[in-house]
Order: sequence, then structure tokens, then C-alpha cells
Amino acid sequence: MKIGLTFDLRTDYIAQGYTLEETAEFDKESTIAGLEQAIQNAGHKTERIGNARSLMEKLLKGVKWDMVFNIAEGLYGAGRESLVPALLDSFRIPYVFSGPVTLGVALNKAFAKQIVRASGVNTPSFFVVSQLSDIEKINLEYPLFVKPVSEGTGKGIDPASLIKSPAELKKVCARLLSEFNQPVLVEEYLPGREFTVGVLGTGEEAYVPGAIEIITKQSREKIYTYENKENYADAVEYTAIKGEIFEECRQAALQAWKALDCLDGGRIDVKTDRHGKISFIEVNPLAGLNPISSDLPILCRLNAIPYQELIAAILKSAIKRHFKV
Ligand SMILES: Nc1ncnc2c1ncn2[C@@H]1O[C@H](COP(=O)(O)OP(=O)(O)OP(=O)(O)O)[C@@H](O)[C@H]1O
Ligand SMILES: [Mg+2]
Repeated sequence: MKIGLTFDLRTDYIAQGYTLEETAEFDKESTIAGLEQAIQNAGHKTERIGNARSLMEKLLKGVKWDMVFNIAEGLYGAGRESLVPALLDSFRIPYVFSGPVTLGVALNKAFAKQIVRASGVNTPSFFVVSQLSDIEKINLEYPLFVKPVSEGTGKGIDPASLIKSPAELKKVCARLLSEFNQPVLVEEYLPGREFTVGVLGTGEEAYVPGAIEIITKQSREKIYTYENKENYADAVEYTAIKGEIFEECRQAALQAWKALDCLDGGRIDVKTDRHGKISFIEVNPLAGLNPISSDLPILCRLNAIPYQELIAAILKSAIKRHFKV
């Protein structure tokens, strides 16, 4: 098969003057090279397409691919992750990973939580603050946790996200509203252990290849922040989990995955609540795929699944969906 790759290469954007934080979610050359190699090892030809803009140009010129492997996260707006899959849908080109509706909903953590909760999975009670005066209406139990409603890679999350008083809530919400120009998600704080759970496949064939506990070594607050993610080798310890806690993570992740109609592969982040019960934080239907440093490859590696096998499983699910083989 000729497989096109859509991605946002971080250095392309930095060269155009974007900041490190604006481009935090974007890909390193090593991610694209690793992915390309793994797709070729699975027996396919690859062609780099680039970001949504390059895709548009190529589509209008009539370029075609048998399938596109999409890891583009987009730059601006609530539909930034949906743009590439929506374009590919309208040109009837098959692609790997979830469609535009799932990516749009998953990017808004409050929308995702509504759907996941309705499917029966535990998630912290929450409130969405669109303007500062909204905080008067909040009726949640302290401590709270606040973050921008539609970001990833730990953006807008630091030790100040853990809120212990109404005064702190007001101060941090004001800062996040002005800094990120989007509503703030206020949730009840989950004090327990943190896990990230891998999911591969689609619908009834989806399965959990493994889950890991995330132990942040340096910060007192035990938050998996952008800084911890960047310095993961020193700041974080990852351990594969087994037994009853794994089973709980597995069930919650699969239920959330199916409820949101996520496809082919990704990650679900969870923590335990004050009763020790697994609680959903967020879903990552476009999980990072750097062969060395991204959480999904790390969790697979710690569960004896090499990167090659991870990419082959993702491809297998997409090929089965599109080509019924
Ligand atoms: N309600 C909560 N209670 C306690 N800790 C939380 C809560 N929500 C988030 N966190 C902490 O903040 C971290 C980042 O939150 P979240 O996963 O929502 O952000 P993200 O930036 O989308 O992450 P990713 O890098 O996985 O895309 C979590 O891994 C967890 O450590
Ligand atoms: Mg997360």
C-alpha cells in the first residue's frame, strides 16, 4: 500500500516564528522517521505529506494515497485535530485513527467527560468556567483541579492547578482564561495513583495491550505536568501494572474508548479517587508516537510490545476497517 503521512513537524513551525509552547504538541523529526520506518517494515511504501495545509495543496492537485497515517494535531481552534480527517473524508481517502467528530469531542475534555460518564465510567464532577463570574456557581468539593478545557501535553497544568481555596480558584481561573483564550475546566481533585492505559483496535475488537503507573518523583503535588513530560527520564518513573488494578483500568478504558467511538489506537489517562476507584481524566485518540519518549510506546515497551508491533497493530485495525481484510 502507498501510505501518506500527515503530521505537524515542530521545527517547521519554530522556523516560522511560533513559540516552543505553541508547538509543544508537535512532532519531532525522530517521531516521523520512526513511524515511517515501522510502516515500511510492515510492508508498505510511505510518502510524507506534512500538515493540513500541505495536505490541502496535494488533494487539490489530485494526489492520492491508498491510506493516510494521520498524527497531525493542528494549530488553531476547537476543530484543529478534526481538520485532516474531515478533509480526507471528503476526498474519500481512508486514514488511520479516529474521525473528525471523535477528535473534536475528545479535544474538549468536558464534552468527553459527559459522554464517558453517561457510559457508566467514573469521572470527577466538574464545571466549565467560560468567564470569571461563572465561578460563583461552582458547587464542587475542594480540593479542585483546574486546566484549560481543550489543551494537551500538560499545557496550562502546573502545581498551581491544585486548588485549595476559593481565592486560589479565582486567581488561577483568571490567569488561565486570559492566557489560553478558552474556557477552564474545574474538576474535583483525584488524590490517588495515576495510570495511563493503552488501547489498540476498534469497537468490539479493541483491547488493552498494557497500562503503566506514572510516578512523578520530584514534585510534591504528583502532577504529570508539561515539565515532567519533557524531563521524563529524571522526573518520572513508569511501572507496568498487573492484577486487580490493571483489570479496573482495562475495563474503564475500553468502555470510554467505545463510548467515544475511538479508532485503531490511543491512550486513556486515569487516576484513583479518594475511595480508591479508577476515575477517567481524558482520552488521547491521537496519542504521541515518538518511539522512545511517548507514553504509548513506553507503556507498550514495558509490556513487552516493541514499537514495530504497536504500529503494525494500529495499521491492522485501520486496514480491517477500510478494506475489510
Ligand atoms: N482531576 C484531576 N485530579 C488530579 N490530577 C489531575 C486531574 N486532572 C489532571 N490531573 C493531572 O494533570 C495531568 C495532566 O492532565 P491531562 O491528562 O488532562 O492533561 P493533558 O495535557 O491533556 O495530558 P496529555 O499530555 O496526556 O495530553 C494528569 O496526568 C494528572 O497528573
Ligand atoms: Mg493526559
